[in-house]
Amino acid sequence: MEQLMRDFFLFLSKNKTLTKLAKRYGLRFGASRFVAGETIERAVDVIKELNRKGLAVTIDYLGEFVDNEQEANEMANHSIEAIRAIGENKLNSQLSLKMTSMGLDISDELVMKNMRRILDEAKAHGVFVTIDMEDYSRCQKTIDIFKQLKKEYDNVGTVLQAYLYRTEKDIEDLNAYHPNLRLVKGAYKESPEVAFPDKKDVDENFKKIIKMHLLNGNYTAVATHDDAIIEYTKQLVKEHNIPNDQFEFQMLYGIRPERQEQLVREGYTMRVYVPYGTDWYGYFMRRLAERPANVAFVLKGILKK
Ligand code: FDA
Repeated sequence: MEQLMRDFFLFLSKNKTLTKLAKRYGLRFGASRFVAGETIERAVDVIKELNRKGLAVTIDYLGEFVDNEQEANEMANHSIEAIRAIGENKLNSQLSLKMTSMGLDISDELVMKNMRRILDEAKAHGVFVTIDMEDYSRCQKTIDIFKQLKKEYDNVGTVLQAYLYRTEKDIEDLNAYHPNLRLVKGAYKESPEVAFPDKKDVDENFKKIIKMHLLNGNYTAVATHDDAIIEYTKQLVKEHNIPNDQFEFQMLYGIRPERQEQLVREGYTMRVYVPYGTDWYGYFMRRLAERPANVAFVLKGILKK
């Protein structure tokens, strides 16, 4: 049943008509629990409040699967606006973004042009930029773009997904770049030909790649809400005397906020991923796919209206 619901929401997440309708009608159905707001002003207020609680942030202007050049350029402009807002408001925040929103499905030249604009601005404001990882069909291209940009900029990192068989090898290959990587379980629907179908195997691989990347001496962001993985990381860094400034935990805005604050109290860097903007639909559907309890929350919200 859980798997059926997961597949259903991941299927819905790619529906273009619903994406367009969602943009037109604004944040609905409890999406505001996971999305900071539709404007940069609202996102800045949310980040100030999180920073006040000792939480670091990475801000994300929502958008994916852009299919025309003008829209990709506008998406890049929004990221630049977010970087300026971080600088002007002295926020403790990085930036996250998706390559399909920069024009990955249109041309590599367009992506590189937009990314250089963003990374120049980010460098000027001392902001670090993480390239999110999308579905498997875009994985190699995203890694290639990251490698090229990492040769030119020191303020860029990317994400690897524990559910992919290839990831262990990617950790090894990328080691030469000493990358700052966010490690996650993986949020897209992938075939058993490329990804572990069994959750248990994903968790084991997650632990394996966390260990590899940390012991390689690289900065590691462990992005999960899973206590077992968090405890594993805490034990690992203790055993190997890895300092607190070589790793951090990350969670999504609206998920386990009390646990986020507890990790800050324990002395760890805890970064919250704060999405904002009108293109919230795909992101919201993936969050519903991850956890049936989130669906119950949404249904309660609808019934109350
Ligand atoms: P999982 O969903 O397996 O949950 C494990 C356990 O965590 C649960 O059994 C429960 O105990 C606890 N838990 C989870 N949610 C809870 C809740 N709401 N309340 C209480 N307990 C809860 N993916 C991707 O493909 N590309 C990317 O670039 C990113 N980027 C990214 C950034 C950040 C900061 C995060 C946190 C995540 C991502 N992801 C991602 C998403 C990631 O791949 C994954 O889909 C989600 O984090 C869910 O997986 P978890 O590791 O949280 O564990």
